[in-house]
Formats: sequence, C-alpha cells, structure tokens
Amino acid sequence: MIIIAIYNRSITYFLLYAVETDNLSKVYSSGLKAVDEISIKVKNGEIFGFLGPNGAGKSTTIMILTTLLKPTSGNAFVAGFDVTTNAKAVRENIGYVQQDSTVDEYLTGRENLELQARVNHIPKNVRSKRVDEILEIIELSDRQHEAAVTYSGGMRKRLDIGGGLLNMPKVLFLDEPTLGLDIQTRYKIWEYIKKIHDEFGMSIFLTTHYMDEADKLCDNISIIDNGKIKITGSPKELKNALGNEIVVFEIDSSDKINTLVSNIKKLTTVKDVSIDGTMITVFTTSGDQLTPQIFQHANDLAIKIENISLTKPTLDDVFLSHTGRELREDDGKYDRKKVRERMRRIRA
Ligand SMILES: Nc1ncnc2c1ncn2[C@@H]1O[C@H](COP(=O)(O)OP(=O)(O)OP(=O)(O)O)[C@@H](O)[C@H]1O
Ligand SMILES: [Mg+2]
Repeated sequence: MIIIAIYNRSITYFLLYAVETDNLSKVYSSGLKAVDEISIKVKNGEIFGFLGPNGAGKSTTIMILTTLLKPTSGNAFVAGFDVTTNAKAVRENIGYVQQDSTVDEYLTGRENLELQARVNHIPKNVRSKRVDEILEIIELSDRQHEAAVTYSGGMRKRLDIGGGLLNMPKVLFLDEPTLGLDIQTRYKIWEYIKKIHDEFGMSIFLTTHYMDEADKLCDNISIIDNGKIKITGSPKELKNALGNEIVVFEIDSSDKINTLVSNIKKLTTVKDVSIDGTMITVFTTSGDQLTPQIFQHANDLAIKIENISLTKPTLDDVFLSHTGRELREDDGKYDRKKVRERMRRIRA
C-alpha cells in the first residue's frame, strides 16, 4: 500500500513538477543552518531561478537536489524521484553544471566531453555521436581539438554546460552559470541557455546573484536569503507587486525621518517604504500623484528634500523590499580575477 502511494506520488510529481521540495533543510556539522525549511515547486519545462547573495544557501540546495548532499530534514523530488531514497533515478535524469569549472585545461574540448561521457556511463556506441551533437549545440565544433587552456572564459563555460547536457537530462541544474564573466559573454551564455531550453524543452534550475539574469531568463524565481525563501513568483509579478513606480529621495537630516516615513506610509498610492540612512525609497502605484504629497509632508516637518527621482521597479528593488538590503552590495566578491584564483586553488 505504502509502495503504491509513493509510486503514485512520484508519477504525479514527474508530470507536474521538475523539482519539488517540502520543508527542506540542511544543517552543516558546524551547526550552521544553510537551508532553512524551503518549499518550492518548479513546473516541468520552465526556467526557474534561485536568486540570492553570497552564502544564501543556493549551492547547498542544488547539491541536495543533485544528490551530492543529504538533507537534514524535509523532502525533495527531482523529475518525480525522491533525492534521498531514489538518488540513482534522480542522477539518471539530471545534468549538473557546478559553480566552479570542472574543465581540464590540458585536455582538448572534445577530450573533456569524452572523459565526462565515460564518467556518466554514456554507452560506448553512442558516445562519439553524442559528443559531436553537444559540440554543435555549444558551438565549439571548430575548436574541439584545441586544449581548453586556449579557450576564453565564455568558451570554457559553454564546455561546462555541454558536460551537463551529455545525458540529455530532463532537468538541468546550472549553479551560477555566468559567474565572473564579462557582460557580453554573459549575454551569449543566456542565449545558449535559452536555446537549450527551447530546443529540448528541458526544465532548467539555475542559481544566480545577478538580478538581470533572473529577470531576462527565468519564468519564475525564488529569492533566498540566509537559507530562507523570501518570495516566489514571476519576475513581472514580483515587480508589479511593488507598484508601478519608485520614488527615491534624500533628506537633509534623519531627525524626523520616522515621522515622515509613517506619514508617507499612510498615503493611498504607497505600497512599501524603505530607509537607508537619509535616503528614502517609496514604492507606489502613482509617482505623479505621490511626489507633491512627499514635498508637502516634508515641508510640514521642516525637512528639506535634497534630491528626488522617479524610476520603474527592478528585481533589485524586489530584493530590497523583501530583505531590507541590496543584493548588489555583494557584487565586488565576484571579481573575475578572484574567481580564477579560486578555480586554480581548487584544481591544485
Ligand atoms: N561544507 C560546508 N560546511 C559548513 N558550512 C558550509 C559548507 N558549505 C557551505 N557552507 C556555509 O553554508 C552557507 C551557504 O553556503 P552556499 O555555498 O550554499 O551559499 P551560496 O548561496 O551558494 O553562496 P555563493 O553565492 O557564495 O555561491 C554559507 O554560510 C557557507 O559558508
Ligand atoms: Mg554558490
């Protein structure tokens, strides 16, 4: 009876969801709770983004979903299979491209893929043809016989992604697919991800700390911070929930800031307000209506407005609104040179 129930559950989830987690948690032996009761549903065929800053728990979650790490509690299903009790079936249905490159620089592009195909138990009789197909998809056929050390950062990343495609997975996991790449290369990688998704109808689960990446690529996203899911929805839904416009202004002193903010919060067009020093950000459904009201309230309290601007919400603002912090603060850590140094240390 129990077996039938589990079997049915797997089939149901296979049909509906590429990934589903239910109060999934991971506590490392140090006592740190890196993943804290997360429940997410990724529909079959969608590109889903896990957006969060350094140390948010993105890679830990992906490692649980790809069966490399055991959860402490909760459940997770990938392609309909339980990651804990049916890890082999999960592995047969997924591709995983790690945050840090696994490309061996001293092998050619083709040798890298052939090696990975052997490790992934791709049958010998189809291996060579599969590698040809993948090289075609990632547009590296013409450079396949050159050592990867001669490849650009973008070409190496394409090779990494190619490795994740070798078993033509139902669900592809990409951990920070454009980490440390320059902006043009990032755009190119986005094109490849979209192409793979559209041509193969693959479900893609990616992690990123880049707002624009989540915005451009993903059908749905979850914002994760300190191991907890803050909010889930499509980028459009999340931005719209903040209202259509944002008024940002700075005042000359923080003395009566709390009174001013509490007065502004009462206005009918205001959705949310956040404070950063003497800078106030107001999410509103009508910037035109709100701006003169802000001046009026500031005037009543003898507060001087130093500068004011009107913009449209971005995912940065969504993050700010749900965590009280800016995600961009962490960007300095993704200096390309530092990433390369880290990769070198890992390889050594
Ligand atoms: N093996 C480990 N043992 C103990 N703590 C760990 C381990 N791996 C990660 N952590 C900690 O767990 C937390 C989440 O780490 P994780 O790598 O999942 O974050 P992330 O969102 O992927 O961050 P990044 O954007 O830097 O890749 C961090 O505080 C990290 O220091
Ligand atoms: Mg990570």
